[in-house]
Amino acid sequence: LENGLARTPPMGWMHWERFRCITDCQKYPNECISENLFKRTTDLLVSEGYAAAGYEYVIIDDCWLEKNRDNATNKLVEDRYRFPSGLNHLADYIHEAGLKFGLYQDYGTHTCAGYPGVINHMELDAQTFAEWDVDYVKLDGCYADTTTMDAGYPEFGRLLNQTGRPMVYSCSWPVYQEYEGKIPDYEALKQHCNLWRNYDDIDDSFESVAKIMDYFSKNQDRIQPHGGPGHWNDPDMLILGNFGLSYDQSKLQMAVWAILAAPLIMSNDLATVRPEIKAILQNREIIAVNQDPLGIQGRRVLIQKNVEVWTRPITPRNSAGEYSYAVAFVNRRTDGAPYPISFNLKEMGLDSLRGYDVVNLFEKSQKLGVIKQTHIFNTRIIPNGVNFFKFTVLN
Ligand code: GLA
Repeated sequence: LENGLARTPPMGWMHWERFRCITDCQKYPNECISENLFKRTTDLLVSEGYAAAGYEYVIIDDCWLEKNRDNATNKLVEDRYRFPSGLNHLADYIHEAGLKFGLYQDYGTHTCAGYPGVINHMELDAQTFAEWDVDYVKLDGCYADTTTMDAGYPEFGRLLNQTGRPMVYSCSWPVYQEYEGKIPDYEALKQHCNLWRNYDDIDDSFESVAKIMDYFSKNQDRIQPHGGPGHWNDPDMLILGNFGLSYDQSKLQMAVWAILAAPLIMSNDLATVRPEIKAILQNREIIAVNQDPLGIQGRRVLIQKNVEVWTRPITPRNSAGEYSYAVAFVNRRTDGAPYPISFNLKEMGLDSLRGYDVVNLFEKSQKLGVIKQTHIFNTRIIPNGVNFFKFTVLN
């Protein structure tokens, strides 16, 4: 969507994967979907350095609404008990911290968790979002007629635009079409949405991360060409800092999401993220790969003995216009010992005759020096681990 927004993949935080639909604030005061959670997260984004690293959008997912619209006006109403000061107040709080405010809704009669959706009230809701100073809208697709989505999602986007308030527009339209065996219209998605969910929800496990990676690689011919500035494929949230991933699996998700030019939207409890996981989330070089201005989505280019090579063309380009590359060696093996592999650069698609200056993005001190196209690149990757390098093309 050419609305001037999301020129690089959006970065931020969203509650869904970690906090789901916890609404009992008596029992779970620190976890329930409430003003308190978003204020606390806003504070931590700033004080823990995430904001400075680029994480910007604080996004409320499902379960923020009252079960009914306002009787008199039909307007959406935030849960009065859990958001006692109102969403305008929360938006101000987030904006005063220098961050941006995102909100979830659903194109159907109900949200996935059963709260009122936008259908039949699209214009009113778009206006309400603008009044609440929303900067980012995630429009889900539960309880909706998928045959009307090709018209309905663009219509809601037009209504958002008509409010005059710039809002990033995240669409879940293709994922619901794929559930019904249809191939999404990517040209329409590019035209009408800033990002879109392609596949299943992420859960707190490595299996879930791996399943999403497999979907993105197996379908890359169909999906990859459509990602770019203003219009991104979305493999779903970063789950680093939660219960399911080991330290090395956390690196793996971060590396592959950087290669995929994925939105970097964390879903975690920022108060309990361990320092070594925080360091992964705030790794400046890896964020720079994700946010590379060319906005070219990477691909899985090789598989050998269950080791996958994922590459992404990035800046700087040399005087011949050749790209630099981010290269992730992903070991899907589980057989104990670190697994050694060797590739020459050319077979990975790095074919500049001038060579590349190579650094390890997780071990900054490890500089591998200049490597030529014909050289064999050796690396050893631990089970379920990743080795992630930047190959800067020489001039
Ligand atoms: C769907 C979406 C999730 C989340 C939930 C909320 O499953 O894909 O990302 O928004 O709904 O109910």
